Amino acid sequence: MKNTLTELKAEILRLTREYSTRAHVAQRPGGDPERAPFVPGETIVPYAGRVFTEDEVEAAVGSTLDFWLTLGPEGEAFEKELAAFLGVKYSLLVNSGSSANLVALSALTTHKLPDHKRIIPGDEVVTVAAGFPTTVSPIIQLGVVPVFIDNDPATGNIRVDQLESAFSEGKTKAVMIAHALGNPFDVASVLEFCRKHDLWLIEDNCDALGCTYSMPIERAKALGITENSPGIPQDGTLITRYTGTWGDISSQSFYPPHHLTMGEGGAVNIVFRPPLKTYAESFRDWGRDCWCPSGKDDTCGKRFGWNLGELPPGYDHKYTYSHLGYNLKPLDPQAAIGRQQLKKLPAFIEARARNWEYLRAGLADLEDIFDFSLPTHATSWEKSLNPDSGNSSYSWDGTGCRTDCSWFGFMLRVKPSASFTHTDLARHLDEKKIGNRMFFGGNLLRQPVFVQLRKDRPAAFRVVGKMTGADAIMNQALFLGTYPGLTKEMMDYEIETIRVFVRDL
Ligand SMILES: Cc1ncc(COP(=O)(O)O)c(C=O)c1O
Repeated sequence: MKNTLTELKAEILRLTREYSTRAHVAQRPGGDPERAPFVPGETIVPYAGRVFTEDEVEAAVGSTLDFWLTLGPEGEAFEKELAAFLGVKYSLLVNSGSSANLVALSALTTHKLPDHKRIIPGDEVVTVAAGFPTTVSPIIQLGVVPVFIDNDPATGNIRVDQLESAFSEGKTKAVMIAHALGNPFDVASVLEFCRKHDLWLIEDNCDALGCTYSMPIERAKALGITENSPGIPQDGTLITRYTGTWGDISSQSFYPPHHLTMGEGGAVNIVFRPPLKTYAESFRDWGRDCWCPSGKDDTCGKRFGWNLGELPPGYDHKYTYSHLGYNLKPLDPQAAIGRQQLKKLPAFIEARARNWEYLRAGLADLEDIFDFSLPTHATSWEKSLNPDSGNSSYSWDGTGCRTDCSWFGFMLRVKPSASFTHTDLARHLDEKKIGNRMFFGGNLLRQPVFVQLRKDRPAAFRVVGKMTGADAIMNQALFLGTYPGLTKEMMDYEIETIRVFVRDL
């Protein structure tokens, strides 16, 4: 043998990088000089997608050569690195954002919690009507009743003025909502509602990794929160934390359109309370009572010393089940990819803010035709003196709270007075090869699944008030991409295409 194994691996990885540099030019970050040139009208402008370099491909191949396969050393490292970035107690990898939502809510159903905190079938969880379906489906899948309130069409987020009317004494146990398209919801009002009624807050942070929410220090202190997220300097007046780190438990998605990707993947963040990790892990890992990582035995030091359920004393802890669980783990090579993406995350977060600002400034004079999204707590947008900076200029409401959005998408609503609909615009953009999306499922209550559920099991969910905001989003909104793969040429083409479409009608 000419080469040692180490030399052989190094040579494979060197060739891998060379291959990737040449093969994946279209997926490089927006400003990268090696990126494939953009040809307007020919090159598709995706609404989102994987942005990676040879680093991710090398990591995937390296981990595949190691052939641990199931969640192992890379997974463990990723979980620690993500938790350190967010400043949460633990992050737990799962195979998707949908699984993360399922595991997060399941963890709160464990019999290991005191009765008044445990979520059981028939209990209620407050959520919103417009959004992504798998924020809501775990609630129903676990026999719990979602109580829908409306969205504010300007922010896409929960209408906090409706929270109290959704509350039901003795039944409501949690609020489970998403930060819409990278726009933090009104955390201060939602958390105050949760504290008042002793409810869990589950943040679906799938579309908002790296977004921050700030509230006045005194208000945060009253909620028991005194520290900024890591790396965010204390300014003496505000507490600023990443979304996904205010509530009890939160979810991430690592599917390609999201802030970072590993192909498929997701995470459950355990914000403050360590025991929730053991419950979440149990639901992720077959429902087992044992918490040994894959390939390890006897972490608890008494594998044959437990006496649980009606099992014979000393029954193998590895095969002792305290929950009805699943197996929702991803593979180790996915985590290896994710670790490389994490290094790029700060740049990705900034690029999304910058791209949103660029599109907003480019379409600013179309305000008679479109309503543009506003960050939660902002009352108006003003053109920044330097749109390239990604720093928007806003007027804010009187709460003292602020949001800093790393946008998942650039949402606009076609005003009802316009001579075209959002579907007309979406069709036109499609023809011009510009990726666009509706705000996911629109008003979910109008989806076939909910229409059927209303017939099959009318008590499966509850609706409070009129869903006019959710309907407006469904009937008028669409979003363009803000992802870090966009170039200025692409966004100029998007802006010009929309302007021509509007002018020619
Ligand atoms: C808000 C929200 N929650 C959950 C999910 C589900 O994530 P995944 O596709 O990884 O299952 C998505 C997907 O885009 C989402 O937008």
